[in-house]
Amino acid sequence: DKGGWSSFMAKEVSEEPDAVANTVRGRIRDGIVAIPELDGLDELFAGINRIIIIACGTAAYAGMVGKYAIEQWARVPADVELAHEFRYRDPVIGPDTLVVSISQSGETMDTLMAVKYARERGAKTLSICNTQGATIPRESDAIVYTHAGPEVAVASTKAFVAQVTAQYLLALHIAHIRGTLSDTEIAQQVLELEEVPEKISRILSDEQAHIEQFAKWMADTRSVLFLGRHVGYPIALEGALKLKEISYIHAEGFAAGELKHGPIALIEPGQPVFVLVPSPSHSPLLHSKVISNIQEIRARGARIIAVAEEGDAAVLPYADEVLRIPFAGPLFEPILAVVPLHIFAMGLSTAKGLDVDQPRNLAKSVTVE
Ligand code: F6R
Repeated sequence: DKGGWSSFMAKEVSEEPDAVANTVRGRIRDGIVAIPELDGLDELFAGINRIIIIACGTAAYAGMVGKYAIEQWARVPADVELAHEFRYRDPVIGPDTLVVSISQSGETMDTLMAVKYARERGAKTLSICNTQGATIPRESDAIVYTHAGPEVAVASTKAFVAQVTAQYLLALHIAHIRGTLSDTEIAQQVLELEEVPEKISRILSDEQAHIEQFAKWMADTRSVLFLGRHVGYPIALEGALKLKEISYIHAEGFAAGELKHGPIALIEPGQPVFVLVPSPSHSPLLHSKVISNIQEIRARGARIIAVAEEGDAAVLPYADEVLRIPFAGPLFEPILAVVPLHIFAMGLSTAKGLDVDQPRNLAKSVTVE
């Protein structure tokens, strides 16, 4: 039931604040992360020396964001690998490897086969999944469910923000066990996390109509590029995937630093480029690098659409359009920045008169390899 919304995707984007809030709920005790499902597994988390995140598509981009939090907070080396690539090499894994799979459906065959492979090789497995009792969690040693609620639209939206949230909880849980963060530091991150739902709601109430109008103007666009650095990079990839998937527009995401290594040749007058701009207050260096990327491509005629923090005035002289997000800590910014991109893809698909929920050639759950 679409509950009065024009599409399931519209409903599910509106549920992004709840997806985060419900995934956090019940997992905080005395201001510290304590995931009840992981009770009794302290030894497992103390004994690992490596984490490999496996997933496909949007879930893999969520994994790329999660990697930053796992490494920064839990100080465990983490890599992200596409599930369908994992099995065909000879990965160095064993009992001290934790393989974290991420899947909304819990039935993605590529991911399932990778989990089974990891287990056969003796690795520990943990499933981050949105579907109770699905095959992947049943095949795993540990489970952390995302509580995004059922996702019907083929394009994954609220599951993505819940997947990032679950990984942040996991990272803080491991940090607590391994003592890599103090209780005070964990409590600070928990507070930030608890503020995310309200901030997403603000994007939806303040920016959704603006972004949809903007998407309408862009309806004839043939190609869109997305640039980001650090945690903005996976968000650029996610923005591009959504656009391909439901708007059938050629789109590509790049790490902003790669531009000069090739992709900048694509920039011609009029080329729309979304740029994920990190807040200047986190890292002036990172921010200034992104601003110079913007200057470089603008000098070659690109149309800049900046996704930037409310207070950031530095983007104004260069951006043709600014989509605003509230201020948040460095690792929390991507959970906010993805929301305008979800709205944009949906708006563009609608403007083109396409079926937002059922894009051609795609199925919600990919149960073949
Ligand atoms: C993109 C999308 C897909 C899925 C991918 C993994 O919007 O929906 O890229 O994210 O097929 O699916 P799950 O999470 O069910 O394993």
